[in-house]
Amino acid sequence: EQWQTLYEAIGGEETVSRLVEAFYKRVAKHPDLIPIFPDDLTETARKQKQFLTQYLGGPPLYTQEHGHPMLRARHMPFEITPTRAEAWLSCMRAAMDEIGLSGPAREQFYHRLLLTAQHMVNTPDNLE
Ligand code: HEM
Repeated sequence: EQWQTLYEAIGGEETVSRLVEAFYKRVAKHPDLIPIFPDDLTETARKQKQFLTQYLGGPPLYTQEHGHPMLRARHMPFEITPTRAEAWLSCMRAAMDEIGLSGPAREQFYHRLLLTAQHMVNTPDNLE
């Protein structure tokens, strides 16, 4: 299917939901990420489901509730180092593995996340 969105290609709402649950389960245990995330990740996961839905070409759920994502600005309160970006991406790869997301749609999706994660970096590692 050439004309569908990445959102449709990966399986829509159900896949996004399973992915985000599997992802934050890992974030909550990752030593590099624990210090900057809240203890209760329920609301974080809810927003991430909304965001990834629109990021992948699904309905604009995040913007409907929260306005323009301004992702880099929203991450500025947190020290996002290259080490933390790699930790975030490693949790995402493991979550994709866990839910069985594979093939070209996974590769495209992951590549976009890699670029976005690199763009979120706002602090060098050596200042830690
Ligand atoms: C929020 C860390 C990359 C999307 C957050 C929060 C932290 C964080 C600490 C705040 C959580 C909260 O208070 O609820 C990181 C780190 C990253 C990263 C360490 C590594 C590069 C990304 C990427 C995306 C993303 C690549 C999107 C593809 C979001 C969204 C929120 C968020 C949508 C919620 C914003 C809101 O409050 O409305 N992130 N993030 N993050 N992050 Fe990231």
